[in-house]
Amino acid sequence: MSKAPQYQCDACGQTFSKWSGQCPDCHAWNTLEEIRSIQVGGKTKSLARKQSTQVTPLSEIDSTEQPRIDTQLHELDRVLGGGIVNGSVVLLGGSPGIGKSTLLIQMLAALYEYPTLYISGEESAQQISMRAERLSLNKENIRLLSSVSLEEVLATLEKIKPKLVVVDSIQTLASEELSSAPGSVSQVRECAGQLVQFAKNTDTTLFVVGHITKEGTLAGPRVLEHMVDTVLYFEGDSSDRFRLLRATKNRFGAVNELGVFVMQENGLKGVKNPSALFLSHHQTPAAGSVVMVTREGTRPLLVEVQALVDDNPSNNTRRLAQGIEQNRLSMLLAVMHKHGGISLHNEDVFINIVGGVRVHEPAVDLPILMATLSSFRDFILPRELVMFGEIGLAGEIRPVPNGQERLREAAKHGFKFALIASANAPKEDIQGLAVIAVSRLSDAIDWILNNYAR
Ligand code: TYD
Ligand code: MG
Repeated sequence: MSKAPQYQCDACGQTFSKWSGQCPDCHAWNTLEEIRSIQVGGKTKSLARKQSTQVTPLSEIDSTEQPRIDTQLHELDRVLGGGIVNGSVVLLGGSPGIGKSTLLIQMLAALYEYPTLYISGEESAQQISMRAERLSLNKENIRLLSSVSLEEVLATLEKIKPKLVVVDSIQTLASEELSSAPGSVSQVRECAGQLVQFAKNTDTTLFVVGHITKEGTLAGPRVLEHMVDTVLYFEGDSSDRFRLLRATKNRFGAVNELGVFVMQENGLKGVKNPSALFLSHHQTPAAGSVVMVTREGTRPLLVEVQALVDDNPSNNTRRLAQGIEQNRLSMLLAVMHKHGGISLHNEDVFINIVGGVRVHEPAVDLPILMATLSSFRDFILPRELVMFGEIGLAGEIRPVPNGQERLREAAKHGFKFALIASANAPKEDIQGLAVIAVSRLSDAIDWILNNYAR
C-alpha cells in the first residue's frame, strides 16, 4: 500500500498533505520538506498487533520508588525531584552560553563512580578538555565521544554500555537515513526518538541538551518534550551571574521547582538561600520599580518588577514584556482602564523582571500594575513596600497560595509594608510588617496614590 507523501514544516513541525512555498501555519518560507515514513520494525509491527499480550493488575506492579542518584549538585538534585532517577531521560534547554555544557560536565565529573559518556557534536575534544581544566575537574573521569552521527553514537553506546549518557546537543546529531539537515524537525525527532528508545530498552540514564529559539521554546518539534521524562530549562541573563534551572515537566517530581546557580570563574555553584538574590539594589529608588514575593517551586523568592511608561502620540503604542507573558500585560492594562480609570492608550508600556527571572504565576499582576502606575505618574514607591496578588477581569484582587509564607519572607528581609489581597491577610500579626489588605484594584490604586503620588 503506497501512502501519499506528507510534508512537514521545519520551523513549526506541522504536517501537510500538500507542498507549498510558505508554511500555511507559521508562514515561514521554504521550510516544508517531504517526510519519508520511517519503518518501525517492519513486519514485527503488524504481527505484534495480532498477538494479545498479558494484562497485569496494577497491584502486582512494583511501585517502590527507584533509588535516585545524588549528583552532588544540590540545586540540580532539587529540580530533578531529589536526584536522578535511574533510566530516566532528561531534556535540558537554554539559550547559548547560559551554562548547559558546564552544568552537565560538572555532573559527569561528580558521578565518576558510574560508567558515563559525554557525547559532543558542538565542541571539539580540545575545547571540552580546556573547559574541564578550567573547572578543575578530574579529566580521567570523563569519557568523551565527538560525533554528529546518530548511527555512530548508537553503535558506540551498544559497545561500551554506559549507565549515564549526555548528548550535547540534539540539534547537532543527524541520522544518515534522512536527507534533511541536522537540527531540522525530522532529524531532531528521529535522533531523539532512537536515543530515547535505546535508553528505555537498556535502562540507561540520558541527558539531552536542546537549543532554544529566540521565542524561548525548544528548537524542534514539541514532540521532543513529550518523549522525555523531564524537561529542564536554564533561564537567566547571560550577562548576569545568576542562573535559574526550572523543571517544566517532571514525571518524577514537582514541576516549576527552581534551582539557583551562580556562574563563577570555576563553574556553576548552587545557591542555597536565593530569596533576595534578584533585587537590583539601586542606590536611589526609582519610579516604576516594585518588589514582589513570588513562590517558585517550594521556595519564596523576592523579585523586582520594573515598568517604563512613555508617551507615544502615534496609534502604534507598544506593550513589551520580559519575564512575564505579553498577553497578560495587555489584559492587565485593560483591567486597569476599565476598573481603575487609568488609561494608557497613548503610552508605550515596557515591563521587565530584574535578573532575567520569569514569573509564571498570577501573583505578579498587582506588582505589574502598581509599577506601571508608578512610572506613569512618576512617583517613587518606598523600598520597604512589597506586594503580590492576582487581578481578575472584574477588577477584583484575588489571593495567591502560601500568602503567609511570602509575608514572613518579606518581613525577614526588612520589608515594612505589604499590599495584598484581603483574602491573604494573615490571622495573626507578622512582626515588623504592616499589612494593607485590599479586595479591589481601585482600592489598591487609591491607597498607592494617596500615600505616594506627588
Ligand atoms: P556553556 O556551558 O558553554 O554554555 P552552553 O553550553 O549553554 O552554551 O557556558 C559558557 C559560558 O559560561 C561562557 O560565556 C563562559 C562562562 N563560564 C564561566 O563563567 N565560568 C566557567 O567556569 C565556565 C566553564 C564557563
Ligand atoms: Mg554548550
